[in-house]
Amino acid sequence: MSKRDILSVADFPADEVEQLVKTTVRTKKGPWPQVLAGKSITLLFEKPSLRTRLSFELAVHQLGGYAIYMSPDEVGLGKRESVPDVAHVLSRYVHGIVARTFLHKSLEALAAYSTVPVINALSDYEHPCQALSDLVTIFEKRGKLKGLTVAFIGDGNNVANSLLLACSMVGINFLIASPEEYSLKDNVLKVANKYAEKSGSQIMLLEEAAMAAKDADVVYTDVWTSMGQEAEHEQRCIAFAKYQVDDKLMSYAKKDAILMHPLPAHHGEEVDVGIIDRYRSVIFDQAENRLHLQRTLLSELYK
Ligand code: CP
Ligand code: NVA
Repeated sequence: MSKRDILSVADFPADEVEQLVKTTVRTKKGPWPQVLAGKSITLLFEKPSLRTRLSFELAVHQLGGYAIYMSPDEVGLGKRESVPDVAHVLSRYVHGIVARTFLHKSLEALAAYSTVPVINALSDYEHPCQALSDLVTIFEKRGKLKGLTVAFIGDGNNVANSLLLACSMVGINFLIASPEEYSLKDNVLKVANKYAEKSGSQIMLLEEAAMAAKDADVVYTDVWTSMGQEAEHEQRCIAFAKYQVDDKLMSYAKKDAILMHPLPAHHGEEVDVGIIDRYRSVIFDQAENRLHLQRTLLSELYK
């Protein structure tokens, strides 16, 4: 059997996404199949992490496996050692690689040269496990997916790309408000538009935050400066100044709209100080659901 990599949301069949969400909700409390018994999974991280590392390590343990974390300065992916060599070596030791890389290209090379599954734990292009688990949170809070509207306020970044793909697969409308130069790129839009044609979801690129938030079921934001973009911080704060999520912006959305954020948050930048506290029940459920979704995903990959 050929190995299965999850580098993008698009690597998961669109017609199985809703089932993945429902299975995740149903199996939160277990019992969990011990599909990783006798198996090891390495977590190879080029950037820091709180949620992704912990939730993957726990998910591996809960499925009976052994997780080995490799910190950013340990491996020197592509520096101390070439990506193909790392991929070949890891394939001799472990049964799967969960990798967080700067370049999406590094992930693709890892997947191309390894003989074990590679899962994207965030790259500069996508964060698929975040987006798929966000669907779990949306489903739990709203009881459905199709026909809802997500307003993404801010940077058309890795999180936005994956969320766009996930929403367009399941029929959620996706409106993004960003400064033009930071909006979604054509490559991801092309894929999402194909899903949207089938699922009926609407995709809109806007410049005004209030227009995107109007009547939204979900207002979603993420940092303006992602990991690896620190040198652009000042310039980004200026470009995104009109895109902060505050109470006024939330007032344009539906009365019972939820605020979502993948965390870590930069309080006072993309979110007004204090607003995360008022919406924390959703945002911390969102963090918890990373664990549940990833456990289901691993159960599927190793069944
Ligand atoms: N949301 C998320 O991926 O968090 P970490 O960077 O802490 O893993
Ligand atoms: N866009 C953010 C997400 C962090 C989970 C980053 O890449 O830093």
